[in-house]
Amino acid sequence: MIFALVLLTAYLIGAIPTGLLLTRMVGGGDIRNSGSGNIGATNVYRTIGRKLGALTLVGDALKGALPVLAANTLFGDNLYQVGAVSVAAFLGHCFPVYLGFKGGKGVATALGVYLVLSPLAVLGAFLTFAGLVWKTRYISVGSISAAAVIPVLVWFTRGSLPLLLATLIISSIVILRHRTNIQRLFAGTENKFKA
Ligand code: G3P
Repeated sequence: MIFALVLLTAYLIGAIPTGLLLTRMVGGGDIRNSGSGNIGATNVYRTIGRKLGALTLVGDALKGALPVLAANTLFGDNLYQVGAVSVAAFLGHCFPVYLGFKGGKGVATALGVYLVLSPLAVLGAFLTFAGLVWKTRYISVGSISAAAVIPVLVWFTRGSLPLLLATLIISSIVILRHRTNIQRLFAGTENKFKA
């Protein structure tokens, strides 16, 4: 019963559309109608600016970190339960009930999840992300590549089958949710990152 409640709460927290709410608060309209149309930090940065993009990143990461911290405290000895709560918070961001199940790509929320589950894996994924963004100037290439390596990093740092399974679900969804970016990359029309 407690587990089901925590799962639902994790989903509902993950579903809070930080980027959309912050953009509306500063009078920036509906972020879904600007830039890439995504509600995540990259598009808020692109459309509104650096500060609000950073706030969105922190808010979206907290939506992943807080439920997983709670799960670690409540069911730390059962990593299937911790993994399920991680996936629930992540799915909340990607498929939010408040926005007709049309949400973001999950990168920042996954970042929050893994900052709790495996900071070392985050370090490896971040180096992959930063190296590829530096080389290509595409945030999406960095995100897709970080998603591709995170299962391996989680396996080597935690050696846990339930966390590996949760990570495979999360990383596959991150990559699938970048399909419009992948199409734009092939068409040569993807937005380049401007610092
Ligand atoms: O984390 C999302 C990023 O990889 C791509 O964002 O707005 O360029 O689709 P965007």
